[in-house]
Amino acid sequence: PLRVAILISGGGSNMEALVRSMTGDHPARPVLVLSNRPGAGGLARAEAAGIATATVDHRGFETREAFEEALQARLEAARPDILCLAGFMRILTPGFVARWQGRMLNIHPSLLPLYPGLDTHARAIAAGDAEAGASVHEVTADLDGGPVLGQARVTLDPGETPETLAAKVLTQEHRLYPRVLREVAERLSRQSASPSARLSSL
Ligand code: GAR
Repeated sequence: PLRVAILISGGGSNMEALVRSMTGDHPARPVLVLSNRPGAGGLARAEAAGIATATVDHRGFETREAFEEALQARLEAARPDILCLAGFMRILTPGFVARWQGRMLNIHPSLLPLYPGLDTHARAIAAGDAEAGASVHEVTADLDGGPVLGQARVTLDPGETPETLAAKVLTQEHRLYPRVLREVAERLSRQSASPSARLSSL
């Protein structure tokens, strides 16, 4: 199966949804959950699920590049085919992104291209939007700007607050991210299967 590493900074509810989805005939399996924050709630959840965990604390490095070198080394040791950012709250440099081109996904809590960056739910409410949601996109050097692979929508209710909206959207994220990961993994595993398929028919 394809190997998936999941990067987190916090509670890891999306990580857990991804991990739970990778069973049975799923073409991928989780091999590592990595946090940039020591003690992130998601680390304990991953351990409870029997997944290897690692912490690379960004505060231990002088520069973003030095942090990313350590991140890259730890990731390479796990040989992932796909990286999933799941509530990972560090901006990655174009150099790091280039190393994982086409193999790195992120979930963002807005209907991209609306509201890249932070405070997405407060911004959607302030704008008077009728709908909000989440997007899974390919990570490119353009922050929250890579190709969108899937979206989930919710309706804003009267009296909606950033907290109530975040909770509603998060529930949808847990369905959306596993669906998109599966599509991506199926596509990648077909691609990697086809050369040997051709060889075996010679
Ligand atoms: C999720 O809502 C995710 O979309 C968001 O952080 C939350 C993480 O929750 N990500 C970003 O804001 C990325 N800039 P989780 O740790 O429970 O999955």
